[in-house]
Amino acid sequence: MVKDHSSLANFHEVRVTHSAYELDVNLDSRVVEGYAQLDAVAEVDGPQELVLDTRGLAVRRVELLETGGAGGGGGGGAGGDGTPPQALTYRLAEPHAVLGSALHVSLPAGLSSGLRRGDRLRLGVRWATSPDSSAIQWLAPEQTAGGKHPYLFTQCQAIHARSLVPCQDSPGAKMSYSAVVRVPAPLTALMSAVPEEAPAEGLSAHMADVKPPYPTSTFAFTQKVPIAPYLVALAVGDLVSRDLGARTRVWSEPAMVEAGAHEFAETAKFLEAGEAIAGEYVWGRYDLLLLPPSFPYGGMENPCLTFVTPTLLAGDRSLTNVVAHEIAHSWTGNLVTNASWDHFWLNEGFTVFLERKIVGRLQGEAAFQFHAAQGAVALAAEVERLGPEHPYTRLVPDYSGGIDPDDVFSRIPYEKGFYFLYYLQELVGGSVRFDPFLSDYIAAHRHQTLTSDQFKAYFLNYFKDVPAAQTVDWQTWLYGTGMPPATNSYDTTLAQQAYDLALKWHTCDVMGIGSDGPAGASAADVAGWSSEQLVAFLEKLGQYRAVQAMSPRVTQRLAELYGIYDSKNAEIRFAFFKLAIPARDARALPHVADMLRTQGRMKFLRPLYRSLFSRGGPEGKQLALDTFAAVGGSYHPIAKKMVAADLGL
Ligand code: BES
Ligand code: ZN
Repeated sequence: MVKDHSSLANFHEVRVTHSAYELDVNLDSRVVEGYAQLDAVAEVDGPQELVLDTRGLAVRRVELLETGGAGGGGGGGAGGDGTPPQALTYRLAEPHAVLGSALHVSLPAGLSSGLRRGDRLRLGVRWATSPDSSAIQWLAPEQTAGGKHPYLFTQCQAIHARSLVPCQDSPGAKMSYSAVVRVPAPLTALMSAVPEEAPAEGLSAHMADVKPPYPTSTFAFTQKVPIAPYLVALAVGDLVSRDLGARTRVWSEPAMVEAGAHEFAETAKFLEAGEAIAGEYVWGRYDLLLLPPSFPYGGMENPCLTFVTPTLLAGDRSLTNVVAHEIAHSWTGNLVTNASWDHFWLNEGFTVFLERKIVGRLQGEAAFQFHAAQGAVALAAEVERLGPEHPYTRLVPDYSGGIDPDDVFSRIPYEKGFYFLYYLQELVGGSVRFDPFLSDYIAAHRHQTLTSDQFKAYFLNYFKDVPAAQTVDWQTWLYGTGMPPATNSYDTTLAQQAYDLALKWHTCDVMGIGSDGPAGASAADVAGWSSEQLVAFLEKLGQYRAVQAMSPRVTQRLAELYGIYDSKNAEIRFAFFKLAIPARDARALPHVADMLRTQGRMKFLRPLYRSLFSRGGPEGKQLALDTFAAVGGSYHPIAKKMVAADLGL
């Protein structure tokens, strides 16, 4: 049995296997009223209670709908045939600061004693979310592109699903789900599931107590594939779509949909490449939802409906590796899932690996190697930032003791995870051997969850005839802090020019006090470069200048020569600001403030705020505090909380 330190639910005793939701979304009161019909199976004989995770939920009623023998069905019908369902006794435990309140539902003695392992039961829970649910961001009309309608979106990974729906909020408790969602007309609801025909009668009698005083529309969804609860997702807004292929389309507010359709035109190709590498795509549709700028991540792999940030709209498709990444989660993460957040690298490290394989398949091995090399630079920077002894630099951090996954989050599981998998690939004989392993690993674990030790056992058995495979230092790779115990070498054909230019700027800045950049530097240095190469240059320069800041004259010259402020590419601007802030480049500050005001992606917000605060001098520090005071209220609840912590507030 795998213990999940991030859930209070008792899914090892009674496990929810399907949730049928009815949701009424009220954007005026900022409350989701809901009813969940939960199908559960006994995992032991005589379980006495069902424990669900909740956070900030108002539980209105819990009832027993049906009990039945193995396989479910008919059974000792309660409520199914007109008799009113039996109310069940429940208790919401004192809230845990990180994990929320366990909802203990007592199973009546007569029922409990008769339940055998494998027996099924069906319960109903009527609840409402709180306006400050950590899973939901409610946007006022003026925070949307259209400016006319309110909007809401959810973000449940890692442990926020419990503040949206009562559930067993552990990846180890996969469930299928269906939903009927009522929203104010003329808004549209979308979920991480396949859209269905909505029932003509709308919500059922279970929700009869909620009567919206405005016209409404109803939407329905089915997610047949069992998913971890963190993949439940909902968005409501003024939404339209454009088809990108037979099974894929992009959704967004009307003002952004053409830009989205242009930027993400390659989605169907990514999907095909993913299938060629990882096997059948089991989710039916793959749609994208392009969110308002406050979306706190680059992308989120909600099944059937990836959520993406509008900061990907560079105009030239140069940031769409994020889409390849979220597509890759269709196999690694959504189909084969980490058993608990300690093993998050099994989701993210594998997904970065698959993402780069997809990109490599479409753009060639040199592109794969380029991204791998970039990943190594990012890994070094993250280890440098956290410190080489920091417990969160372990590939498998320790979550016992109620640690918040949002606090542990970093690039370590992504890049150390990727680094490890590439190391393993080279050890066993390269991609000729490793590609089949990867697809066999996915096929063997689909619909399951697993731990790092289970991965280790599978790998060792698979490659039992390869002597080199037996030499892996698992202990250090999985549990050691700091940089990995071995060094990969990547082909730097595409990266080298960028790295050479970074070295030039670095040396001139170190050597020539008062210099204006390298002798003979000009726009021609980067003519014809991809924006990825420009980012590689800036990040490599950042690595050289991790400790000692550049001089502001040099960063200003760099920005002018290479047209940084003309770029629409958020990664280029961000990488430059990370150099300009410690340089105390005053010209950059208004542009930095602009980035902090106009988007809420944590990947950009947090390093910029941290840099302003601790390396930006008195002006930088003041700008950080003033900007956060002015716009912090419009950030996503998680982003707001994390930035506040970064600023010591
Ligand atoms: N699943 C993550 C986002 C996430 C992780 C949300 C943990 C909440 C908790 C998603 O797949 C992701 O990794 N997105 C990256 C993109 C990527 C290319 C590395 C991002 O948001 O930048
Ligand atoms: Zn990911």
